Parts: sequence; structure tokens; C-alpha cells
Amino acid sequence: MSADVVVVGAGPAGLTLANLLQRNGIACVVLEARDRSYVEQRQRAGVLDHYGGQIFERAGLAAEVLAGAPVERFLELRYEGKPHLLDVPALAGGRAGWIVPQQMLVRRLLGTFLAGGGDLRFEAREVALHDLTSAPRVTYTDAAGPHEIECSYVAGCDGFHGVSRPSIPEDELTTYTFDHGIGWYTVLADAPPPRYPLMGIGANGFAAQFARGPGASRFYVQYRPGAEDPRAWPDDRTWAELRVRLGDPGLPGGAITDREIVEMRSFVAEPMAYGKLFLAGDAAHIITPMGAKGMNLAIADADVLADALTSALRGDDAALRAYSDVCLRRTWDYQDFSRWFTEMVHDIDGDPFRRRLARARFDRLFTNQAAAAAFADMMAGVELVS
Ligand code: APR
Repeated sequence: MSADVVVVGAGPAGLTLANLLQRNGIACVVLEARDRSYVEQRQRAGVLDHYGGQIFERAGLAAEVLAGAPVERFLELRYEGKPHLLDVPALAGGRAGWIVPQQMLVRRLLGTFLAGGGDLRFEAREVALHDLTSAPRVTYTDAAGPHEIECSYVAGCDGFHGVSRPSIPEDELTTYTFDHGIGWYTVLADAPPPRYPLMGIGANGFAAQFARGPGASRFYVQYRPGAEDPRAWPDDRTWAELRVRLGDPGLPGGAITDREIVEMRSFVAEPMAYGKLFLAGDAAHIITPMGAKGMNLAIADADVLADALTSALRGDDAALRAYSDVCLRRTWDYQDFSRWFTEMVHDIDGDPFRRRLARARFDRLFTNQAAAAAFADMMAGVELVS
């Protein structure tokens, strides 16, 4: 069989791209390694920034994607126990983001694509990409046996561990990896959510608390990777660390239902294209969770790629040739923002000089209008100006 575009992966990048192509009347097939319930239940990011929301608005998908999603307003930063509130949308000239858990976004995009007659194949195993510099073919296997799809273009939206990026010859890619030297111990607990998303900053290290429904919270505690495994901490120790770092001795505890560790790493592969293959989202770059840009970058890549592929299939490939450069500019811009934010709120290596720099950065945010507006601008997400 054949298709204009084969999209590999049904995460935020692949599903955004598939829906945008469908709206443009471009025939695509989406191949996803996992089954539907796995994809719909995977919990990860939670914030759609203002720019990401606009992408769905422009595509006429706002009702499907954003219905009922609360707007994100205040962010509380608590420095050594002292609260400071940031009204992010007000600082960004009214550009608010939405609280959209990744699994909700995925469920909605999946439903919309299928309702529009979209071709999405779950449990596609052994996906392999061939002849990417001439006439591409994608092969895969499912319960019915092996399949082959001829196509004009392949969109590699299969995440960091997918098959697309490794299909590019190694000497065609430059990769950048950065280890921030910070670990997060994260627990899900039956504990009342905070009034606003909350981050605790101080010499004891970073902690955070975010709502996960009316009776649950997700907590984060900075730890030093390699030195210890906080998953072995008794619950009492976890609550004690959280109470100190969030500056709230009365913080109510509760049953801990999930324990995980996250190491803060960044990665970028350049260029995001090889022949007729175009990478989008985590397949091309990963970013730390600070600033909540991972899902938003995936959506922004998909938006640029959908327009570029549509134009190319109609005879004009200029935007497709520019795709990688355009997306890498935003990627590096967001990597810098995420690193900037990370350095401001973490105690890195207990280094007193870095601690004073972080304090200066924090104070500037609350005393300098231009600095606060620049922060809020990045939180809202940026339109690239050439
Ligand atoms: N064949 C087919 N599908 C694959 C393959 C493969 N070989 N490998 C991976 N996949 C699928 C995965 O099962 C997953 O559903 O590709 C999808 C990739 O989705 P994500 O990893 O969510 O990546 P992306 O769509 O780029 O979204 C990035 O995810 O990691 C978070 O914080 C990140 O929020 C950001 C978002």
C-alpha cells in the first residue's frame, strides 16, 4: 500500500501531526508500537503553553483539545519558606497556558483523528525505515503478518528510544548531551493539592508540589544522583524533607502510591532531517521538565512539519528544507530557558557561589518588570520571528 506520509509514533508529536495533516487533506498512516490503552494512560507532561493552545485553535481543534481545561494562572515560588506569587499570564500580556495532562491530550487527539477516518495502527512491531534518500518505504509486522507502505515522506515521532533517529547514518548527525547533575525523587501521594503549583527553593535543595486531582499531589525532591537512591527512604524521611524544603512544617502527609526517580538530562540531534525523514518531538530532542516545554516543543515541531509537508506535497518544498533550522532555533531557545530556570531553583552541588547567583536571578524576577516579562514570555511560548 502507499500513503503520502507515514507517521511513526502516536505520542503528542505524532498525533498532533496526524490531525493537522488530516485537516489539510493529506493521507497519512500512523504506526504505533504499543496498544491503545497504554498510549492513552501514559502520564507525563501536564501543561499546554499558550502558543501550543494557539496551534490547536488555528487548526480548528480547540474545542476537541481544550474543552474544560483550566487556565494556568499563578505560580508560587517559596524561597527559604517565604512565598512569592507570579501571575504568569498577566506578565505575558494575557497569554495563559492550560492545564492539559499529556494522557488527556493524547486521548483527545487520538479520538479526533479516528473520528475523522484516520488510519492508526497499534501494536506495529519491528518498524523499519528504508530508502530514505530516494523512494521511502516503511515495513512493520503485526498480528496479521508483515506489511510494507510506500510513501513520499516519513515523520519520525517515536520518542527518544524510537527507531527513526537511529535510522539516520551516525555521521550525518551531530548530537549534544548534557547531564545537569540533578536528580528528582518524585512521589504521588493522597495528600491535599496546593493552592497553586508550588516550588520550594533554598539551601536544603529544591522541592515542588503539583495538584493531581482533588485529593492527590505529586511531589518532587531534588537529590544528588549516584550518592543515594531516595526510593529507599522511609516515608517519614520523605515527608520531613518536603516540610523543610516547602517551608511548611504543617504540610499534611498521606499514603504514597508511586515512587520514581528522574535524572535531569538534555539532548539535541542536528539536523532534524535526513533525506525524506523528518524528526519531531522527543525523537530529536529531550529537555528537562523545568519550564514544562517537552510536550510543547513536540507540538510546535508537529505544527511546522504539517505545514511544510503539506506545501511540499503540493509542489513547494522550501518550508520543508527550512524545517530543521526553524525547529532547532526554538529547541535551543527552550533548552536555554529550561537550564536558566533549573539553575535558579536548584541548589547545585551545594556551591555557595552558584547559590548567590541563583538568588540574584530570583530577586531580579520579582523586582525587575522586564525580567519578569521575559520569563512569562518564555512560559507562554514563543512565535519565531525570522
Ligand atoms: N515504532 C512505533 N512506535 C514507536 C516506536 C517504534 N519503534 N518507538 C516508540 N514508539 C512510540 C511510543 O510508544 C510512543 O507512543 O512513539 C511514541 C512516542 O511518544 P513520546 O515518547 O511521548 O514522544 P513525543 O510525541 O515526541 O512527545 C514528547 O513526551 O517524553 C514526553 O516530556 C516529553 O511531553 C513530551 C512528550
